[in-house]
Amino acid sequence: MDWPNGVDGLCYGGDYNPEQWPESVWDNDVALMREAGVNLVTIGVFSWAALEPREGEYDFGWLDRIMDRLHDGGIAVDLATPTASPPPWFTLAHPDALGERPDGTRQIHGSRDTYDVHAPAYREASLRIAGALAERYAAHPALAMWHVHNEYGTTSHSVHAERAFRAWLQGKYETLDALNRAWWGAFWSQRYSDWDQIMAPRATQYLTNPAQELDFKRFTSDALLDHYRAQRNLLHRAGPDIPITTNFVFGPWVPVDQWRWAGEVDLVAFDSYPGAADRTAEQHSALHADLARSWAGGDPWLLMEQSAGTVHTPDGSIPKGPGRMARHSMIHISRGSKGAMFFQWRSGRGGAEQWHSALVPHAGEHTRTFREVVDLGQALPALAETADEPVEADTAILWSPESWWATGGHASLPAPFDYFENVAQIHRVLRDRGVVADFASPEGDLSKYATVIAPSTYVLSSAASENLRWFTAGGGRLVASYLTGAVDEHCQVWLGGFLGGLTDLFGVRVLEHLPQPDGEVRALWNFGNAERFCELLEMRGAQCVTQYAGGELTEDRPAVTVNPFGKGEAWYVSCKLVDEAWDRLFEALELNGPGSAGVDVVDRGRWRYIINHTDTETRIGRTIVPAGGWAVDRRPE
Ligand code: GLA
Repeated sequence: MDWPNGVDGLCYGGDYNPEQWPESVWDNDVALMREAGVNLVTIGVFSWAALEPREGEYDFGWLDRIMDRLHDGGIAVDLATPTASPPPWFTLAHPDALGERPDGTRQIHGSRDTYDVHAPAYREASLRIAGALAERYAAHPALAMWHVHNEYGTTSHSVHAERAFRAWLQGKYETLDALNRAWWGAFWSQRYSDWDQIMAPRATQYLTNPAQELDFKRFTSDALLDHYRAQRNLLHRAGPDIPITTNFVFGPWVPVDQWRWAGEVDLVAFDSYPGAADRTAEQHSALHADLARSWAGGDPWLLMEQSAGTVHTPDGSIPKGPGRMARHSMIHISRGSKGAMFFQWRSGRGGAEQWHSALVPHAGEHTRTFREVVDLGQALPALAETADEPVEADTAILWSPESWWATGGHASLPAPFDYFENVAQIHRVLRDRGVVADFASPEGDLSKYATVIAPSTYVLSSAASENLRWFTAGGGRLVASYLTGAVDEHCQVWLGGFLGGLTDLFGVRVLEHLPQPDGEVRALWNFGNAERFCELLEMRGAQCVTQYAGGELTEDRPAVTVNPFGKGEAWYVSCKLVDEAWDRLFEALELNGPGSAGVDVVDRGRWRYIINHTDTETRIGRTIVPAGGWAVDRRPE
């Protein structure tokens, strides 16, 4: 892990877009940043047109001036390459380098992220502008870190994508026979007899091939990574001591496998925007933070963006009342972020995000928002030491991007199923019990965990299946829920009882999937209810923990089971439990922590962070935390 050069302690600041403002505003910006304790700003993220107004013609004057001014003000710069938004001259000159949707619609400028990462002209232009920036600024004293691109995640289904996809598939499968087997090509006459017949998944008459879709996501993740790496290598050559990152974004549309990417960045950086109109924004912030820390392998990471106030999106918005911005920041810092960064410094007057909140709102600095920004900025330096210490967790939740990809959109599934919701539920119930859990890759190293929970991990590769076997045999406690291991890495069903082939480990076989209509619950004896989905189990040596109390086919049949295996044990939950039922199970498993619903208590080494999201004062140990406040104290011995 590397840290932005010259930034001591926690990072505080955000995206700064000086090119949107007359230079007369800049001095005020720097003065306000100093007042607020800002020590790092990200500039240049969408500045391509300002930096290269015509192909090969650069205008670095404004960037020189603002870099110098920031440096004079003691503010370090996270300088972005602007490749997430090519200028209009580029898109008109290279129409083939624009992204294409599955239905063949070619996008055009007027928004952002309009490019085809597979197109040679875009790759060349990206490297050209990144190279020009590297050459000019690698030695600038304000430069603390490089920020490549912005929120990689754009998919294209163009001819360039197709060509690259075929090459990727050839590398993976070597022969068409192997590909046809993996994609179950005998179904619906999808057997390929020439590599050139294979398409990036296009708009089709009816359902598409799940194995092809999953491979296309993996391919896109690799192609985006390749684009990142090319820029990174170039920037690294120009200034080997400058750390390099890109900001990860999280959502079902993002074909980026962060487990694979995290090793390619010097510092994991993450943008956290809890869902619009999301009443559980705190829960989602905590989940984002735990994911980011886990991608970083437990090292500190950086919250690169969050909103200071209302997030304006097409489907709603989250207001942040008094203290909420600070509490969200503390959620991230307590869970491993070495700082709190925002989108954006100053709210814009125009453009598509003109209603997005900022550290300096439209109404200016004489506002509640800016006062809270200053308060937080003044409090952070005292926490620098606490944030150097690790967050230790002995429980991990499996996070499988491939399960998310394979179950999204129009996926072929046994019943409508929301993978993320199942993961979020486990995280939520554990957090409400005060447990701070890591996330882990199904194929990653699980040896440091006592308990691993696999919430409906739909795709279980052979390697992941072996990994879980090894973990449990070695003394781990595995808890898996319905649909875990339903399919393998090619989206092919695991025969003989599903469960990723681990029927001996769980001591059960899954015989049937039993989707339930919305609103219908199935009771479990002394345990609470299940909803939406359950499975019919056949016992193969496991003990029954509880049974279904009713339901066609399920009455008195096992619902939750446990099986000793090697030195460990494997629990299986054959249905979608409601929160209270998961809580009961975690109680039985003695998964407890010092926090509770509404009060985060997170230990970092010798320090304890307490964040009180409730409207009443709380006392944890000897620390009293006011309603809506937070505190950091020595951890009890
Ligand atoms: C993302 C982007 C920013 C901005 C914010 C808005 O995180 O990186 O440029 O669009 O979303 O919330």
